[in-house]
Amino acid sequence: MDNPLVNESDIICKCFQVSEGTIRACIGKNDLTSIEEVTQACEAGGGCHSCHILIQLFLDQHQHKQSNVEALMSQYGGKIKKRGILSRFFKRSKSSVPAS
Ligand code: FES
Repeated sequence: MDNPLVNESDIICKCFQVSEGTIRACIGKNDLTSIEEVTQACEAGGGCHSCHILIQLFLDQHQHKQSNVEALMSQYGGKIKKRGILSRFFKRSKSSVPAS
């Protein structure tokens, strides 16, 4: 499901090739509140779950919630395959975003 209009670096969900913009648009347009709803709307998060931490971050941001990085890492960190992408969204700290 390659989309030549989507920059590879914007892809958040590698399993379904869903970009940050698509995920944020789905959340905003439908006022989504859960990862399951995002998956139903645009497939993101429906595979390996590696992107769940970022989907939850986008949901929190849409709801104007202050994301707790430690809590997100505790809940979703074990599912992450490549941690490098997290540095775009979280400030690096040894405790919150381990090196990949
Ligand atoms: S990267 Fe999103 S489900 Fe695998």
